Amino acid sequence: MNAERRTRLNQMPEWTALAKHREQLGEVHLRELFAAEPGRGAGYTLQVGDLYVDYSKHLVTDETLALLRDLAAATGVFGLRDAMLRGEKINTTEDRAVLHVALRAPRDAVIEVDGKNVVPGVHAVLDKMSAFSERVRSGEWTGHTGKRIRNVVNVGIGGSDLGPAMAYEALRAFTDRDLTVRFVSNVDGADLHEAVQDLDAAETLFIIASKTFTTIETITNATSARTWLLNELGAGQEAVAKHFVALSTNAEKVADFGIDTANMFEFWDWVGGRYSYDSAIGLSLMIAIGPDRFREMLDGFHLVDEHFRTAPAESNVPLLLGLLGIWYGNFHGAQSHAVLPYSHYLSKFTAYLQQLDMESNGKSVTRDGTPVEWETGPVVWGTPGTNGQHAYFQLIHQGTKLIPADFIGFADPVADLQPGLVAQHDLLMANFFAQTQALAFGKTPEEVRAEGVPEELVPHKTFKGNHPTTTILARELTPSVLGQLVALYEHKVFVQGAVWNIDSFDQWGVELGKVLAKRVEPALTEGADVPGLDESTKALVAKYREVRGR
Ligand code: F6P
Repeated sequence: MNAERRTRLNQMPEWTALAKHREQLGEVHLRELFAAEPGRGAGYTLQVGDLYVDYSKHLVTDETLALLRDLAAATGVFGLRDAMLRGEKINTTEDRAVLHVALRAPRDAVIEVDGKNVVPGVHAVLDKMSAFSERVRSGEWTGHTGKRIRNVVNVGIGGSDLGPAMAYEALRAFTDRDLTVRFVSNVDGADLHEAVQDLDAAETLFIIASKTFTTIETITNATSARTWLLNELGAGQEAVAKHFVALSTNAEKVADFGIDTANMFEFWDWVGGRYSYDSAIGLSLMIAIGPDRFREMLDGFHLVDEHFRTAPAESNVPLLLGLLGIWYGNFHGAQSHAVLPYSHYLSKFTAYLQQLDMESNGKSVTRDGTPVEWETGPVVWGTPGTNGQHAYFQLIHQGTKLIPADFIGFADPVADLQPGLVAQHDLLMANFFAQTQALAFGKTPEEVRAEGVPEELVPHKTFKGNHPTTTILARELTPSVLGQLVALYEHKVFVQGAVWNIDSFDQWGVELGKVLAKRVEPALTEGADVPGLDESTKALVAKYREVRGR
């Protein structure tokens, strides 16, 4: 599929209509919107699977939403969605299909790339992963010395790390507590050093996760892990096969590394790195939670895929969330978007979304290569909400920036907590609900005065409110619910990229740094005169060498 020229986004009548509408709404306050529309709280909600999505605390009216949907229609969001689902090569700059949805399609589905149904291959790999996971979990798979595997270390970076690391944390309550699972990503040797400190090499399995198997950080860490293992075991290369498996699209490089390709779990070039943790890249997670739970997670993904594919625009949740982001980013000047889970288990969720969203939509040319004249992807940030409340929430409440935020919470605590800790859940959720209320409605000077606050403190204690939030509430953080949440954000990002007319599935922006790092390294190690180094970098390299005594 070629990148088609289409009318510039900011010249479309639907865009102009939104800009005009924005002007008309002016500084309307959520207080006014709620006053004008009784029932808004329960009315501005949608349900997808287990996720109850409340968007009532947004600076929108029915008209805003209709105009945003008009924009989606005019920019062909659903047409691009269907092209993606048909296996068309919508990642035009890499000439690739975009089919992460095939990773969670049921066995009997038919999804074709270049005329070939990819679903049987997906299930063949899932079956192979399941069999291997069961062998590790049961103790049948043993290391070189015959000991069972008790430690699993995933070595990968970016999409080959963030997804499984996030999901392992999220589903910890469902994991086999006898297994230690760790994730090494940073090329800083400290990462691997700390990860293996207390591990018995004889009981350790390294999973080398790299789509390309050329990523320098991963291959360097994998090589060091191999050295560590062989030293610890006092063994030769023959030990590698029992302690190293690979997750990759590149069988040749896997074999070059010395891993038996029989122990390679394959995926395909139509799976983007940041969309890959439900592929073979999730092997560490599958070992931790077991194949059945993993498949429940895939079913959760699929449920939201089907919703995105079939739900009408008015009730399509990923569409809605994508369009709300456009409303704030393009018509209110918001630069960032906070994602604030009220679940300790989701502590890595926002970091995961940062790659998903920012690597996808951090683009400044359209699909046909012309510069955009509109804002694209926001800065995505956040940590678990309760911790954030005592850190950066001050700025969201009373700072000068507009920061739309997603609040994600659960009615039931997930784990087998002690009764005392279960009771804490209500306190956690009281914070959850109180914060979105305070952000939306604030506190007027009159209300502050009525509390007897001295006049000079009134401005300090006044909260303007009007900070928009989405609340996503589910009963419990299960594997299926995690899949639903991730698919929701994947499709939200898709919607935004489609409206902005950018290629959400390439990542050329990370290439330059990679190329330069390779070029600069000999300057550090050998003092080589690297051509093309700028004045500042040269001086910094010289300082580094001086400090290191070179
Ligand atoms: O950072 C760029 C990137 O290509 C990501 O998109 C990807 O997830 C990561 O590097 C890791 O790549 P690989 O899985 O090929 O090692």
